[in-house]
This record gives sequence, C-alpha cells and structure tokens, in this order.
Amino acid sequence: MNSATSTTTSEAQQIIEREREFLVQNYSRYPLVLERGEGCYVYDVDGNRYLDFIAGIGVNALGHAHPRVVAVIREQAALLIHSSNLYYHRYQGALARKLAQVSGLQRSFFANSGTEAIEGALKMVRSHGNKIDARKFEILSLDNSFHGRTLGALSITGQAKYRRDFEPLLAGVKFLPPNDLGALEGAVSERTAGIVIEWIQGEGGIFPVSHQYARKARALADQYNALLVFDEIQCGVGRPGTWFGYQLADPVVLPDVMVAAKPLACGLPLGVIVANERAAAAIGSGMHGSTFGGSALACRVALEFLDILDELLPSIRRVGKYFRARLEDLAGKHSFIREVRGQGLMIGVDMSVPGKQMVLDAQARGLLINCTHDTVLRFLPPYIATEKEVDEAVGILASIFSAQPSQ
Ligand SMILES: Cc1ncc(COP(=O)(O)O)c(C=O)c1O
Repeated sequence: MNSATSTTTSEAQQIIEREREFLVQNYSRYPLVLERGEGCYVYDVDGNRYLDFIAGIGVNALGHAHPRVVAVIREQAALLIHSSNLYYHRYQGALARKLAQVSGLQRSFFANSGTEAIEGALKMVRSHGNKIDARKFEILSLDNSFHGRTLGALSITGQAKYRRDFEPLLAGVKFLPPNDLGALEGAVSERTAGIVIEWIQGEGGIFPVSHQYARKARALADQYNALLVFDEIQCGVGRPGTWFGYQLADPVVLPDVMVAAKPLACGLPLGVIVANERAAAAIGSGMHGSTFGGSALACRVALEFLDILDELLPSIRRVGKYFRARLEDLAGKHSFIREVRGQGLMIGVDMSVPGKQMVLDAQARGLLINCTHDTVLRFLPPYIATEKEVDEAVGILASIFSAQPSQ
C-alpha cells in the first residue's frame, strides 16, 4: 500500500510549498507530486507507484511514455517543433485528412485546448447566424454541461457555479434540460444560430445524451438552419469505443461541427474544430487564428496516435464492458451505489455518499481516480488498459467500498 508519503518527504513538501507561494491559488490539488510514468502507472517523487485511472483527466490516451509517442516526439523535436500558421508543414493537412476520414466532417481548424476549440466553434456559430440575419445569434445549450473556462465557453456552460463570478457573459444563450424533447422544440426558433451538446456529459457526472434527443436536435437544426455542435472534448476520440460519441447512435447523428481535444495528441496541447463545408464556410480568411495551434510536433504525435487508435477501438469496447460489469457487481453489494454509467472507457459510479475521501483512500492504496459533482467517481483510464489493470482497480475499490460506515 502506498501511503501519502510524498507530502512528508522534504522534496515533495518543498514543491508544494513553492506552489503555495508563487502560483495563483485556483487549483486544490491532491497531495501527490508526480515524477514519471510508464504504461498505465505513474510514480511520485518518492518512488511510490499508482495505477492511473484518470489519465490526466482523459488526456493520456496511450498511458505514459508510450514507445511510439516517445519516438515521434524525439524525432520531430529535433526537426521542427513549431512554425506558426504563416507557413505549411507536413502534418496539419495529413491530420485533417485523417480526421475527415474518421469523423465524416471535411474541414479542421487546430487550436491548443478544449476551451479554445469551443471558442472557435462559437465564432463559427455566430458568424453562420450573422450571415443569415443579424438577429440570428441565439445558442441553445444544456443544463449541467461543461464546455471550458474561457468567457465564451463559460457562457454556454450550464452550471452556475462556474459562471457566476464572471457575469455578464455572452448574450443570447438559453439553457435547456438535457433529453427533454419538448423543451428543445419550444426553445428553437429562427433566431437560433447553434445548438451545442456534449454527447456524454463528463464533468457533469457521466450523463449520456439520448440518441432520440440528438436526432431531434439534428432535425431542428436543419429546419431552422442552425449549426449542430457536438462537444466531444472528453467523450470523443476513441474513449467511447468508437472514434466519436455520435457514432454510437445507429444511424449516426452527424453534427455540423465537432470539437475535440484532450486525448488528441496524447498529452501535448492540441484541440480541433472539425466542421462540414456549410459550417466551415462561416469562417473566412482572417476571421480566426492561433499562433500555436496545429504545431508540427502536436500534429505529428496526433497522427501517430490515431494510427494506433485504429487498432485499439475493439479493446476499448471490450475492456470498458468488462470494467462496467465488475463495477455493476460492486453496485449489487453496496446500496450507496446508485448507478454505473458510461461508454467504453468513460465510466462514472454515481453514489448517495460523497466521493472525495474515497479518492484519497484510493490514492493511498495506489489508484488514481477522481470525483465529479461530489458523488460521482469518475474513471477515464488510458486506452491501453486491459482486464488485468481493471481487476487491480476493482480490487482497490472493493476494499474502499467495504470500509464505508454504511456497510
Ligand atoms: C466536455 C468538455 N468541454 C470542454 C472542456 C475544456 O477543455 P480544456 O480544459 O482543454 O480547455 C472540457 C474539459 O474538461 C470538457 O470536459
């Protein structure tokens, strides 16, 4: 068992103290100072090993120090890291072509994070509406959603706790209860420029949108000439066991715009807006840009990752199903577990008790997870996780659940 020893050693303590003195105090970090990782495991500065089932909040898709990722980073870093978007390099167009093939959407714009990609998508929506009518600027978004921390993304984030310190935000945003077809029908109008939906709400507690709802949103967006935007930043790029969440529906509900980020470059900052021709036409020359977006390094790593992901998708589905089944078993034994939700390797355990102490207990036993919305344990393991790592994680969780006072 690992103890939270890193906080008691002098180096870890010094690192934590230095941050307390010099960093803006916006994060409440767990008391753990990490040094390196390998596969599904990370190690702290004292050499303690942890099974990483949160993977940088869904970013480290191939775990840590994946040999192919390390090799292309080494090679590309020695050739060309960044060139700006004044010039071409080999990898942006190639990555955009791959994304078009797997998404069904033709054109990409590269950014550096999820929230920045959302900002670009919002500009696409606003410009699309504006070209039709100056009054067509409304955006429909969902309660309980999370789209990022910049002002535009906050404006469409359906959780007051993130927005309230920064108001007033963008005008014209309406929040709707998820999966309520009547509310959607009642809210949409000629003034609607876009409808934004997280296919599976991640930060909100792992809540999938119903396929019927997504289909309705698609039909209404078509009827009112609005853009349908899917935020796949947390739930996309392989995590659900398909390339993107919207491909879980049969037939697929294709959006006009899809936004992805987190796992795309395995830990290097890269976000993307992938749009059909109609949506992409809303952004003309000089209307949007990014100095860092789509660097040679990040795009090359993303290409390597997507190549590997081609073969990993069946394993994500298989291991995800196995993980859910094992968690369901635990749910059968512990009445405080209300529900196990998720798709592929994006899973939430919804409980009637707070999860924060369980996250700390898991850490002390060598498992990294997190908790969202106070009572939902969230699992975003790397895509390379197998049944063996799931068994290890479930063993630790079983011991924590059994120790709960309500048992
Ligand atoms: C669904 C969703 N959208 C947007 C974001 C914002 O992404 P970033 O933190 O990269 O800006 C997140 C981050 O958690 C997310 O889960």
